[in-house]
Amino acid sequence: MLSHIFKQVHTVEWDDWNISQAKEHCKDRDNINFIKHDLYGSEWNLPEADVIFIDAGHQYKQVLSDIMNSIKHNPNAIFIFDDYGLPPGEVKAAIEKTVASGHLRINFFIGERSEDLVHAGGTKFIDMEGCICNFR
Ligand SMILES: C[S@@+](CC[C@H](N)C(=O)[O-])C[C@H]1O[C@@H](n2cnc3c(N)ncnc32)[C@H](O)[C@@H]1O
Repeated sequence: MLSHIFKQVHTVEWDDWNISQAKEHCKDRDNINFIKHDLYGSEWNLPEADVIFIDAGHQYKQVLSDIMNSIKHNPNAIFIFDDYGLPPGEVKAAIEKTVASGHLRINFFIGERSEDLVHAGGTKFIDMEGCICNFR
């Protein structure tokens, strides 16, 4: 979907099977750069980007790591988070922590509202599906 909106997409994934599935699914697209990389186990050496869509690990420490690495390497980017309101709330907590520390500003909430959204485990979301942020 992102490859239909943006001129160039760099997508990061560490799992070979997921990469092969994504390549198969996007075989008609010629503007996607598939990067095999462990986001939490190795140094970030990823291409710069104007918009960063964060939807990898959903644990507090992982989301915090994605945020701080994204800000460090792309301070002028727009940051889009999926699963903001995913239970038990680790994505939301990491985003709120960086908002409270003055690194991030939430501009919009996007997607489904919590009352309409049930995650794969069957539990209701605790907040909105996603949000769009800036470095402040
Ligand atoms: C919730 S899924 C979302 C995938 C994709 N954004 C989508 O919507 O289809 C999270 C993805 O992050 C990947 N992931 C988890 N840990 C990772 C890591 N250390 N490095 C890179 N990717 C990782 C998983 O393999 C999984 O494909």
